[in-house]
Amino acid sequence: MKGAVTGNGRDELLGWLRGELAGILSVYKKSDEFDPAKERILSQLIIKAQKVSGGKRVMGEANSLLMGIDLGTSRTMVKTNRDVRVSVDSVIGYPKDIISAKVLGSHVAYGSEALEKRSYLDLFFPLEDGVLKEGSQRDIEAARDLLKHAVSLANPNDEAFKVGIIGVPAIASFSSKEALLAIAKDVLDVAMIVSEPFMVAYYVQKLTNSIIIDIGAGTADICGMKGTVPGLGDQVTILKGGDYIDKVLEKRISEAYPDVQMTLHLAKRIKEQHSFVGKPDKAVTVKLRVDGKPVSYDLTDIVGSACETIMPDIIEHLERIVIGFDPEEQETALQNIYLAGGGAKIRGLDKYISDRLSDYGDVKVQTVDDPDYAGCSGGLKLAMDLPHQYWDEVGDVVRR
Ligand SMILES: Nc1ncnc2c1ncn2[C@@H]1O[C@H](COP(=O)(O)OP(=O)(O)OP(=O)(O)O)[C@@H](O)[C@H]1O
Ligand SMILES: [Mg+2]
Repeated sequence: MKGAVTGNGRDELLGWLRGELAGILSVYKKSDEFDPAKERILSQLIIKAQKVSGGKRVMGEANSLLMGIDLGTSRTMVKTNRDVRVSVDSVIGYPKDIISAKVLGSHVAYGSEALEKRSYLDLFFPLEDGVLKEGSQRDIEAARDLLKHAVSLANPNDEAFKVGIIGVPAIASFSSKEALLAIAKDVLDVAMIVSEPFMVAYYVQKLTNSIIIDIGAGTADICGMKGTVPGLGDQVTILKGGDYIDKVLEKRISEAYPDVQMTLHLAKRIKEQHSFVGKPDKAVTVKLRVDGKPVSYDLTDIVGSACETIMPDIIEHLERIVIGFDPEEQETALQNIYLAGGGAKIRGLDKYISDRLSDYGDVKVQTVDDPDYAGCSGGLKLAMDLPHQYWDEVGDVVRR
């Protein structure tokens, strides 16, 4: 077609259009004529322009280091636009005294090193139930050190302008968001916090009529995507995730076999190796220690029932999220249920959920690819697609 814009030129034009649309949306949202239905159409246009243009970035600092960050209860993960990805256990250790500092050879240890050397370190797990522990200054400092460390690992070339999108549980309190923004400002030049399941939805590019279930260590988050940034009524945070299963599993094994030496850490390892819900596909046989000697136990029922303890809450809230869609859209939403987070690796979870929702008709539940990194991959994708000048439309933002 004569005069048609093709290839890179077209991509740039669409990228520009997307930027303009986001600008119009930003002004429009503050105007007296604001109408949520129109906002939705505009948001969809932006997403379409971004999709067609292949997500090319045309504005903002040309060489910024862009990051998607999942500051999780159990792991902190970062992915960058330089193809770097890092994962650090969300724990930090400080030497107990001057001798410990000498043995450690440093004033701080992170992640697995901190866990290994725990006997002479004070350990801090700065996140609880998916948010910063409130009240303790030491935990806030630990969280700042952890974020700084994860970002520095992801930024080996020590690039100057750092821009990041950080995921928080769907329903994070105002004060925990404020505390996180203050920390982020110390570490990044521009930072936005958005809800974790929204980042996952962005990763799978299912922003309309889909449901995301993100099962982490501290929380399970469920979010109904309706073509815009999800509102309060569209998402829910349940304070039961992998950590809860670990506690139940530890308790039930100890009760059933009092002679066995059990720890929470061991329960977590057993869960990560054998977790399942619904019908087991094979028996769970585990060697445990009694008076120091290995003994084999069949833990099939205990492991399955411990994993299922988080399911009633998830199903109940999932049903509420389904009902929150327009009736004509519920069928599509039920076909687009996505599982993410470490808990998505529980075997049989997809079938378990679709069986529980069978009264609603055809249900399709699938696990996103790379469920561990889906959140930070979505955050990175969003950072690459949408110039940070427009971030105030999407989440809470701080700029240095
Ligand atoms: N194969 C597995 N089966 C069951 N659970 C698993 C498996 N692998 C990892 N997990 C659990 O997933 C959880 C970690 O998931 P994830 O990294 O998504 O959590 P997080 O983001 O740190 O936590 P949150 O989102 O609550 O802040 C841990 O509880 C871990 O034990
Ligand atoms: Mg998480």
